[in-house]
Amino acid sequence: MFEDTWFDDLQSEGYITDVIRPLKSGKEASVHLCRGAPSTGEALLAAKVYRPRAARSFKNDAAYTAGRVITNARTRRAVQGKTRFGREVEERMWVGREYETLREVHTAGAEVPRPVACSDTAILMEYVGDEDEAAPQLKDVRLSEREAAHVFERLLQNVEVFLSRNLVHADLSPFNVLWWNGEIRIIDFPQAVDARTNPNARDLLWRDIEHVCRFAARFGVDRDPAKLASGLWDRFLLARL
Ligand SMILES: Nc1ncnc2c1ncn2[C@@H]1O[C@H](COP(=O)(O)OP(=O)(O)OP(=O)(O)O)[C@@H](O)[C@H]1O
Ligand SMILES: [Mg+2]
Repeated sequence: MFEDTWFDDLQSEGYITDVIRPLKSGKEASVHLCRGAPSTGEALLAAKVYRPRAARSFKNDAAYTAGRVITNARTRRAVQGKTRFGREVEERMWVGREYETLREVHTAGAEVPRPVACSDTAILMEYVGDEDEAAPQLKDVRLSEREAAHVFERLLQNVEVFLSRNLVHADLSPFNVLWWNGEIRIIDFPQAVDARTNPNARDLLWRDIEHVCRFAARFGVDRDPAKLASGLWDRFLLARL
């Protein structure tokens, strides 16, 4: 039986004092609302806790891991051979990578929850919402055309910030954007890819932009995804982002 020590780990390190309640339980992770310790500067925090590997349908297929470099030969063989050690490494890579990506894009000014800490299986970050209710996903929000146009521009700007850090989110959709007090917060980064080394990065960027355009079109905002995506990609290649 898998015993996760995420709460003890984050509490003993002085990041959280309590779990208030579970917020969401998804395929890959469950998210809990926690009380932040004073040193974090946040009254409320969200802990995203990854499920044990066996219970999870990982998005770590070839499209996302292509171009990934594992420099330690023993580790590389273990991951390729899917040994138990390899699976453990892969698991920690996934959590660590989401945390590092979040840090990178947050520092660059993207509209994402502020990352606070991580353990082997959990990421602790700024919570979007208040004590009574968590922020809804953008897919469940009704917007005016004006608001939708604003949200659309914000999303595109954030995609540019990601690219300026050589990153493509690769699962950007109204499922992974939260809406609170008229602002967006983009979440869920474990599958983000390096635009310089992943051979599918252009296609993944294209798909992200398509999802964003389809969302905006629901509220009467019509934009051409092909033109936007190719414009962004060309600028990335010319290193202007
Ligand atoms: N920082 C946060 N503040 C508030 N709610 C959050 C936060 N992070 C995640 N959530 C909630 O938890 C849900 C799942 O988070 P996330 O998208 O990162 O995980 P996931 O692996 O995609 O899970 P799922 O399989 O459910 O899609 C989000 O849709 C959102 O409702
Ligand atoms: Mg998600």
